[in-house]
Amino acid sequence: MRSDELDFIIKLLMDRSGLALTAEKEYLIESRLLPIARAQACKDLSELIVLLRTRPTEALLTEVTEAMTTNETYFFRDGKPFEQLKTTILPQLRVNAGIRRNLRIWSAACSNGQEPYTTAMIIREENLPEWKYEILATDLADKVIKKSQQGIYSQFEVQRGMPIQFLLKYFKQNEESNWQIKDELRSMIQFRIQNLLKDYNSLGRFDLIFCRNVLIYFNDATKAKVIENMCNIIQPKGFLCLGSTEAIIGNKERLVEVEGCRGFYQLR
Ligand SMILES: C[S@@+](CC[C@H](N)C(=O)[O-])C[C@H]1O[C@@H](n2cnc3c(N)ncnc32)[C@H](O)[C@@H]1O
Repeated sequence: MRSDELDFIIKLLMDRSGLALTAEKEYLIESRLLPIARAQACKDLSELIVLLRTRPTEALLTEVTEAMTTNETYFFRDGKPFEQLKTTILPQLRVNAGIRRNLRIWSAACSNGQEPYTTAMIIREENLPEWKYEILATDLADKVIKKSQQGIYSQFEVQRGMPIQFLLKYFKQNEESNWQIKDELRSMIQFRIQNLLKDYNSLGRFDLIFCRNVLIYFNDATKAKVIENMCNIIQPKGFLCLGSTEAIIGNKERLVEVEGCRGFYQLR
């Protein structure tokens, strides 16, 4: 790729998704975008870039942006945060909510849905019917939201991290030997597209936001802005949960790390 073409793609991705790439990632860009070039009958990436520069459709821009996302995820990812959700965070949230008896949770970059479904299983296991839970699960990418909504996972996907008793309790095997999430869990979650760079005040307020393993793809300014925007819609004393390799930067006057619960931050 010529350097001006690379710069064009890097800027496009930054503007549309916050993905911060450097020129060293040229191979990654090429390998992800070449199939799109071929599907558009372009003879090479240069021709695709001409198309994007001169006649960009929303569909093509979306396709390019989605192709560059990393959707790695699995049920009960990293284990600990979900144990702590059960033992510390949910009990604390119920104390905070008091007579409200209603908790709202947002899985803010949910990928293929394993994170919100894991959360739903934890809640279901608590068996507290007097409490109402709303789980909103969002992602930038339409393809992962569609898969999440379907709730169908391969043998490989369910084997990664899922305790067998939960598999048997909350899934049923379909004719293709894939595993379908039961409706009792699916009905606990609303899925929709939401770009973290866009305004999300219309989503309402949340007691807990999961924003795991997505900030690592952003630069520091974008990370700080996203966390700031989330702080604005977390209920007083509510929580933000980041991924195991992530930490807040800035925002220290608003969030305090929960002792003994790495990755969880509480709004002051
Ligand atoms: C690595 S997955 C993390 C999934 C899950 N949170 C977990 O920890 O297992 C990152 C997800 O972030 C999404 N993503 C990337 N940029 C985004 C943005 N600007 N707005 C919303 N989602 C975004 C990607 O589409 C991808 O599904």
